[in-house]
Amino acid sequence: MIVGVPKEIKTDEYRVAMIPVGVEELTRRGHQVLIQAGAGQGSGISDEQYAGHGAEIVAEAAAIWRRADLIVKVKEPLPEEWPLLREAQIVFTYFHFAADEELTRAVMKSGITAIAYETIKDGRGTLPLLTPMSEVAGRMSIQEGAKYLERPFEGRGILLGGVPGVLPANVAILGGGIVGANAAKVAAGLGANVTILDINLDRLRYLDDVMPRNVTTLFSDRHNVLDCLSRADLLIGAVLIPGARAPYLVRREDLKRMTPGAVIIDVAIDQGGCVETSKPTTHSKPTFMVNDVVHYCVTNMPGAVGRTSTYALTNVTLPYVLQLAKRGHDKAVQENPALAEGVNIRRGKVTNPAVAATFGLECVGSAR
Ligand SMILES: NC(=O)c1ccc[n+]([C@@H]2O[C@H](COP(=O)([O-])OP(=O)(O)OC[C@H]3O[C@@H](n4cnc5c(N)ncnc54)[C@H](O)[C@@H]3O)[C@@H](O)[C@H]2O)c1
Repeated sequence: MIVGVPKEIKTDEYRVAMIPVGVEELTRRGHQVLIQAGAGQGSGISDEQYAGHGAEIVAEAAAIWRRADLIVKVKEPLPEEWPLLREAQIVFTYFHFAADEELTRAVMKSGITAIAYETIKDGRGTLPLLTPMSEVAGRMSIQEGAKYLERPFEGRGILLGGVPGVLPANVAILGGGIVGANAAKVAAGLGANVTILDINLDRLRYLDDVMPRNVTTLFSDRHNVLDCLSRADLLIGAVLIPGARAPYLVRREDLKRMTPGAVIIDVAIDQGGCVETSKPTTHSKPTFMVNDVVHYCVTNMPGAVGRTSTYALTNVTLPYVLQLAKRGHDKAVQENPALAEGVNIRRGKVTNPAVAATFGLECVGSAR
């Protein structure tokens, strides 16, 4: 099979969908790998490194889309890529169809088979291709929060861990899932006073068992959230209700309870955000102020640490790429139910019930 990896063209996107070991694994099995020139640049991987492991470096994206049977990407195809989609081609990437009707219709029209990273579901019911990006965003949220608490960035001028004789910062984390747990671990490691709020008591019990002593768990109800707000120097928004918009746990009028210069990192912004005053921002201008509280609401946080994110992502995507290349679409999805869950559109027909329901489209049933 010919596997193609175009360069990502979305603004501030530095990830790439394949690293040299992926090229080596594919070429060793007799497949051909086309990498667009400069595709790995944002992640610190040179064309020479790819070529050294057997890839053919191709100058133009159009040539990759024309020749490859399987396209592996990171972000959804952008409008300028839509004319390049080729009937019966397999495209394996994050699509997030439910958030974009135009994209959904363009992909249907193209006749490709779209396998979405975000809906691949393993036997335990988890989403293995989303987890690594939540790990990155969770850890990064504290790094960013620490930076924006600095006075030159309009923060309170507080060091997260304090120093001997001076209290550490208070960090409140709304949602104790993958993002929340990773944020808590990093904040606790820096010496901050951390509180994780969640509505899932089993999850709180688990976190209570595994977290260090400077992490406290608290049931997430309106009173506890408000109480934490008034003490928080740094607030991390990390709630998720699968398939739904994030709930507003912090309302506009609640901001006046916060100390001027406190920082909110609303990681859940890609699902609408859990703070009413949040609105999406980019890495080029990540923050804005409301009521003297710094808001950071970047929708693709992992994109900024392209190298780490690329390696974390490709660790989990490569086994599926190898399977698709070896068995082809039909056999691969028959043999692997997790992969079948990823098929959202098959040769132009919607196979994912949630996507079909979102736009009132016909769902042609299981991809298998
Ligand atoms: N901005 C970015 O770049 C970026 C990157 C990765 C993930 N995310 C987003 O971060 C969010 C969290 O992702 P995750 O992987 O940690 O999800 P997760 O499912 O692992 O965790 C979500 C947690 O929120 C909890 N929750 C639900 N309602 C709550 C409430 N009312 N109060 C407190 N907790 C509540 C759930 O019980 C769960 O433990 C998602 O919206 C995800 O899309 C954003």
